[in-house]
Amino acid sequence: MNSNRTFTMLKPDSIEQGYMLSILNIIKEAGFKIIALKYKKMTKEEAEQFYSVHSDKPFFKDLIQFMTRGPIVAAALEKSNAVVDFRKLIGSTDPKEAKEGTIRKRYAKSIGENAVHGSDSDENASMEISFHFSDSEIFS
Ligand code: CMP
Repeated sequence: MNSNRTFTMLKPDSIEQGYMLSILNIIKEAGFKIIALKYKKMTKEEAEQFYSVHSDKPFFKDLIQFMTRGPIVAAALEKSNAVVDFRKLIGSTDPKEAKEGTIRKRYAKSIGENAVHGSDSDENASMEISFHFSDSEIFS
């Protein structure tokens, strides 16, 4: 398990509104090294697998529709204390509760369309990075 890595996705709402480079710049300025990067549209099957932990939630169908309606940017990030520091940088899942200066406070519209994803544990970071990237696509 590597506590220096986390995984993020810039979600379709951020891309649609032209925030891709601004958000990547905030991530870089906060001291995260981008060690893998991909611009892609997830298939329904990929999104269902990625979010399988939420499959019994009432918002699951909307989540899958949202996450597959346009391209996302997937990235693996490296920094000491990456998971915790990145979650501080993005702010609460619900942008109404996100602190001033966080990415979600600035760019997210709602709890469903909340601009960015950040892994919630080292274990999930490792699984999510492997989900989107093979070893040969990671440049540490
Ligand atoms: P994230 O934490 O990146 O991954 C799970 C996603 O499910 C979350 O972001 C939100 O986009 C979505 N989500 C979580 N809670 C709700 C909710 N109550 N209503 C709608 N979407 C939600």
